[in-house]
Amino acid sequence: MLADKRILLIIGGGIAAYKVLDLIRRLRERGAAVRAVMTAAAQEFVTPLSVGALTADHVFTDLFDRQDEQDVGHIRLAREADLIVVAPATADLMAKAAHGFAGDLATAVLLATDHKVLMAPAMNPRMWAHPATRRNHARLAADGVAFVGPAMGEMAEAGEAGEGRMAEPLEIVAAAEAALGGGALAGRHVIVTSGPTHEPIDPVRYIANRSSGAQGTALAAALRDLGARVTFVTGPASVPAPSGVEVVAVETAREMLAAVEAALPAEAAVFAAAVADWRVKNASHSKMKKDGSGRAPALEFAENPDILATVSQMEAGRPRLVIGFAAETDDVVAHARAKRARKGCDWIVANDVRPATGIMGGAENAVTLITGEGAEDWPRLAKDEVARRLAARIAAALG
Ligand code: C5P
Repeated sequence: MLADKRILLIIGGGIAAYKVLDLIRRLRERGAAVRAVMTAAAQEFVTPLSVGALTADHVFTDLFDRQDEQDVGHIRLAREADLIVVAPATADLMAKAAHGFAGDLATAVLLATDHKVLMAPAMNPRMWAHPATRRNHARLAADGVAFVGPAMGEMAEAGEAGEGRMAEPLEIVAAAEAALGGGALAGRHVIVTSGPTHEPIDPVRYIANRSSGAQGTALAAALRDLGARVTFVTGPASVPAPSGVEVVAVETAREMLAAVEAALPAEAAVFAAAVADWRVKNASHSKMKKDGSGRAPALEFAENPDILATVSQMEAGRPRLVIGFAAETDDVVAHARAKRARKGCDWIVANDVRPATGIMGGAENAVTLITGEGAEDWPRLAKDEVARRLAARIAAALG
């Protein structure tokens, strides 16, 4: 897919710039020609000499370099690429690009290009979460810029962790392939449910569960990185939804089912949400109050619709591949197999959520994939990695 593609790599000034050396290798291994532009700040982290040695090309650093402008010029640099990749996309570069600044070569190229731009942000988690960066990110996404990452993880600064680590080189490669329209899931529509549901007791209270939405979010991002059009139906999760997917925010199981039905048809549907099995039947329209009698209110429950079973058993318009999750605390595989049969889905991703595993709300997952062919134990992996493997399997199954 990347063979003979021309990639213009704009390197920003952040500690993640060292990973870009590996990114260049990965892109070139796949046959892409890589030409690099470095900002002044980038050159504080890696040198044009090492970048040029890996791109095997001249490295462009200066908008006002007479020779460079004569030989190629920033307009040609911007136009001759099939794809522009900005890595690391610092908060500063994103801010400048979002507002059309063009005071140096990197920003001038971004303003002059009419080609697809892919950014791999990397910055301190507070900078990423700052409202200014949120605005710039949304603005760039609205302008058609694609994003990969950032991921959760440890920062270069000792003791800091959070969302802001640059995506790994191979993820950036996959996103570059997708941006060029060649991802393995290009043109496919996939629905992903994620997060917990909230079932109201009264206007201020609800029943919920400990799902963070991390696995579903990672999965939506991995499917997007393979080029899928993703509808992400999410309950009130504690991690932010990924960029570049269509987000449908819901609260209750019934709203989730309606959102899934509205999003059909799809080639595949993955039900990673932790949907409440029951809702409060006699939810109160006004806030329930103690009445002084010392008696606790009695809640009555009604069963929620089973979204996975409903979609699995659709007679017309069923997605070709329907995948459920099974969070179990004992006899994981046996229960998951039974669940697959009972609900009628194609695959079940089973995991052990006993508190001691730290999986619920944690960064890692140890799953068993149950398909029609049998059960496969996967090693304990980061949720992002589980997501990538599962996305690759989905792509292979859809052919
Ligand atoms: O039955 P259980 O809740 O363990 O099944 C888990 C699987 O079923 C998950 O994939 C979950 O998203 C899905 N599910 C659903 N609707 C429900 C309950 C579970 O889609 N009401």
